[in-house]
Amino acid sequence: MGMEKHHVEDPWASESLYPPDILQKLDFSKSPAIFKPKISAAQPGEDWIVVRPLQRSDFDKGFLQLLSQLTSTGNITRKQFDERFTQMKASGGYYVTVIEDTRVAKIIGAATLTIEQKFIHNCSLKGRLEDVVVNDTYRGKQLGKLIVVTVSLLAQELGCYKMALDCKDKLIKFYESLGYKMEPGNSNAMNMRFDDPS
Ligand SMILES: CC(C)(COP(=O)(O)OP(=O)(O)OC[C@H]1O[C@@H](n2cnc3c(N)ncnc32)[C@H](O)[C@@H]1OP(=O)(O)O)[C@@H](O)C(=O)NCCC(=O)NCCS
Repeated sequence: MGMEKHHVEDPWASESLYPPDILQKLDFSKSPAIFKPKISAAQPGEDWIVVRPLQRSDFDKGFLQLLSQLTSTGNITRKQFDERFTQMKASGGYYVTVIEDTRVAKIIGAATLTIEQKFIHNCSLKGRLEDVVVNDTYRGKQLGKLIVVTVSLLAQELGCYKMALDCKDKLIKFYESLGYKMEPGNSNAMNMRFDDPS
């Protein structure tokens, strides 16, 4: 019997938040976004770029450090991360999607689709785009477009009748180029703020 080592993926670490196959079949020609050169979730242009669902091991791949480029995350422990992952997966409707640079095993981009179940519009589903971020040293290389178009097509694939987002004024043009529209008389984001736990 040989004693050679086999690389065995830890099934816990590589557990995905949602089934990864669905990203492979997204049709990027349905998006008005222009990619030069042409890329997609299945073919992101470089062999070291992977677009996939969040995995438990992303705690060790800098996922939370990436999110901290967007907003305050607080000091999240591995246990807290794991519990939140488990809860999101169990409740369904959470599609946290990431881009990994596999050369360095680091998460370099992320966006979340959440799906709300409705009674209106004949028991419809509505998507929300949340927490879009690309690592600052990787910006300007189409990865922002790639992750946003990925989760937007995913929303359509999962049967949402629309996808909504809130953004900073300076990003309106970015999102318009990806198919989002300001709706006159219906584009005011309002918030009521409570205690920030972080
Ligand atoms: C917004 C963000 C995700 C874009 O990522 P990126 O990888 O640089 O985006 P891309 O390379 O795909 O750029 C796409 C286009 O948007 C433009 N763009 C990107 N970021 C922009 C910004 N902050 N302001 C204005 N335009 C921007 C680019 O110039 C590019 O235009 P082009 O296609 O005409 O050349 C990234 O800048 C980021 O993480 N910002 C900080 C977090 C944030 O603000 N998130 C969004 C909250 S609503």
